Amino acid sequence: MKIDFANLQVQYQKYKSDIDARIHSVLNKSNYIMGEEIKQLEAELSSFTGANHAITCSNGTDALLLALMAIDIQPGDEIITTPFTFISTAETITSMKAKPIFVDIEADTFNIDANLIEAAITDKTKAIMPVSLFGQPADMNAIQAVAKKYNLKVIIDGAQSFGATYNSKTDSNLGDISTTSFFPSKPLGCYGDGGAVFTNNDEYAEKIKMIRVHGQNKRYHYKYIGMGGRLDTIQAAILLAKLPHYKKELEEREKVANSYSNKIKSNATLPIIRLNRSSVWAQYTIKVNNRDEVQKKLQDKGIPTAIYYPVPLHLQECFKNFDYKKNDFPLAEETSKLVLSLPMNAYLDDSDIFFITKALMDV
Ligand SMILES: Cc1ncc(COP(=O)(O)O)c(C=O)c1O
Repeated sequence: MKIDFANLQVQYQKYKSDIDARIHSVLNKSNYIMGEEIKQLEAELSSFTGANHAITCSNGTDALLLALMAIDIQPGDEIITTPFTFISTAETITSMKAKPIFVDIEADTFNIDANLIEAAITDKTKAIMPVSLFGQPADMNAIQAVAKKYNLKVIIDGAQSFGATYNSKTDSNLGDISTTSFFPSKPLGCYGDGGAVFTNNDEYAEKIKMIRVHGQNKRYHYKYIGMGGRLDTIQAAILLAKLPHYKKELEEREKVANSYSNKIKSNATLPIIRLNRSSVWAQYTIKVNNRDEVQKKLQDKGIPTAIYYPVPLHLQECFKNFDYKKNDFPLAEETSKLVLSLPMNAYLDDSDIFFITKALMDV
């Protein structure tokens, strides 16, 4: 039996006729840059998320940069975030010459521990950047309360969580600005790089649209320092073909996750979704003490797994100038030694899940 981690091939075959037709339509029109599909996709993303503005862009990393530039982050500013995330979260803060101030995570949701944020605030703090890790939003009420108290902006890194909800609102509709990634293996992926920025703030939206095109407000007139941050029209066309199926795919991912949780009877720690939140299950991540042994034995049986993330960001060499050290964030460090993500996609059937969970329990 061969198990595929994200199974993009099956997905393509399923939606092939519409995807191919839409790609060919772009080719026939040759409207490769900012074609009409971009506007159409942005309208559909806005309606899907409930955010007033959805602005597509080149990838989930640039989406974060666009957000930080829109709130005018300056050198020396501090932004509070989690050390247990993909590099982009803190990389973009550092690219702005600001400083990522890490606080530890919750052991069960893997997300930033909102209770630790207040103690990390200084007079340089400008924003809080929670990440909806593995598809589940962080404790947004608590984060928003502290942001309000200290007049801080909230930027949600929703690269892994497009469509996830907190108290029935999508996390694209919760921060001052939220972002997502359409990297191919993300829950809603395109066939290359892609991303989006969401906001309900009209001024931010206008600014982000300009920054996305080099800060241009009129052809060859530049109001801001910007970037080349557009989404390709072909990628928008692919997303337009996939978006109508996304709700159904999320239901299927939820079924897979529930099925894993019901079937795994072992001493592995299973993922928890908090009350009044939903996850889009970017990953189904367990914690096991003998992680490396489990991974190897599953691999031997043809079951791919992944480790997100083996080294928390405060211990990464690229951030050594910030003087973080071992034991600064014990839960993030312990978690990075235990996590193992199982195959997750909408096309795993009962026999796949039986095979994976049995293999896991055999180890
Ligand atoms: C939490 C998080 N932030 C940001 C990104 C960056 O997205 P992209 O790869 O589209 O630049 C990712 C992608 O994996 C991510 O997981």
